[in-house]
Amino acid sequence: MKKTHIKTDLPGPKARELLARDALVVSPSYPRDYPFVMSHGRGAEVWDVDGNRFLDFAAGIGVCSTGHSHPRVVHAIKEAADRFLHISSDYWHEGQVKLAERLNELSPIEEPVMSFFAQSGTESVEAALKLARYATGRGRFLGFLGGFHGRTMGSLAFTSSKYTQQKGSFPVMPGVTHVPYPNNYRPLFAGEDQGRAVLRYIEEVLFVNNVPANEVAGILVEPIQGEGGYLIPPDGFLAGLRELCNRHGILLIFDEVQSGIGRTGKMFACQHWGVEPDIVTLAKGLGSGMPIGVMLARRSIMQKWSRGAHGNTYGGNPLCCAAALATLDLVEHEYSANAARLGGYFMAKLEQFASRHAVVGEVRGKGLMIGMELVLNRQSKIPAKALCDALVTRAYHNGLILLSCGQSTVRFMPPLMIAESDVDEAVALLDVSLAEVLAHGTVHEPHGAALA
Ligand SMILES: Cc1ncc(COP(=O)(O)O)c(C=O)c1O
Repeated sequence: MKKTHIKTDLPGPKARELLARDALVVSPSYPRDYPFVMSHGRGAEVWDVDGNRFLDFAAGIGVCSTGHSHPRVVHAIKEAADRFLHISSDYWHEGQVKLAERLNELSPIEEPVMSFFAQSGTESVEAALKLARYATGRGRFLGFLGGFHGRTMGSLAFTSSKYTQQKGSFPVMPGVTHVPYPNNYRPLFAGEDQGRAVLRYIEEVLFVNNVPANEVAGILVEPIQGEGGYLIPPDGFLAGLRELCNRHGILLIFDEVQSGIGRTGKMFACQHWGVEPDIVTLAKGLGSGMPIGVMLARRSIMQKWSRGAHGNTYGGNPLCCAAALATLDLVEHEYSANAARLGGYFMAKLEQFASRHAVVGEVRGKGLMIGMELVLNRQSKIPAKALCDALVTRAYHNGLILLSCGQSTVRFMPPLMIAESDVDEAVALLDVSLAEVLAHGTVHEPHGAALA
């Protein structure tokens, strides 16, 4: 396939100049993998400052759900900006009420829900933790190994997709106990469904030996584990957690920051299993790029908060609310269904890709939240981490923007408006990139083992 869209060496001259300026004045803590310097974007296409065009299958880490600068979202933001930019959460405005009403209609919880507004995923998680403690009067939580919930001290206490997130920042919020996230591809427990095994571990080991169940305020879990490797839980696992929470008076908190708002082909990922949480956290795709986070909770729980119990300055910003309302309309009426359809098409293409390449261990996903795990070979299943990093970087050089997750999983989370032709282009670029990486022979896995 001809790489007609990449016209300069990467990074190009203008990008190099900006990278040099950035290196002097911007924090080096950001986990940046390759030097893409954005100029502008439309739909699933982005251009860098040197005029190179890329297909964006990372969507700003799953944020640009309606595509880059969707005209209806941009129009809604401009209209809101003409009226006022900010009033603060100490006052009222119609956009915020409208958005809370829309979320109440769309919520995966049968009972009415109320919204708490924030600016990011981590803040909506912090709000969920505070509410869970406040409402139950209990202090402890359970989280999952491999989970990602943010980088502030409360959410960071749960985040365990890589220890680099916590390294150097310890101690974080106390009271969090981690359990394994069920993974049928890499089973930790012998001889049974991994979802059932994890539930048994919580009930028969943790609650007996270490954590009194009646001190646990909440269980925080991603219905599909994102950063940790795009893991789909076994059927029955989320329902089992629901049942366990009911039995012990524990609140079930679903973190749908990455999986929510149509990404998986349903408005919320938990709707694939028909399991209702007590609290849901949202951000990313909700604002199509505008910084908004929301913590939704059953009205009966949220109403326990008294005046002043929690708040912020920017939550419910009018521009963000306008962007979210436009996004929800697009996702509800078009893009959620598109994600389901295109997700099926993409998965089939990736299965064909896997049949051509023995380094693909597993392709898994729902809608347009798809992971492709790379292994040294299918027998050992040893994660091919260096290969994964090299492939993601090579894909960038060939005009495809990707991210990885877990140890060696390529993740695909394009805008939800993509067409079949975008998937075809992405898979062709992936094929070229993998062939180049393997032909180059410079990938050295730490295990010293050879690739299949
Ligand atoms: C599931 C999940 N929760 C929370 C967060 C944190 O969101 P933010 O980076 O907006 O704080 C993320 C970010 O990747 C996420 O994937």
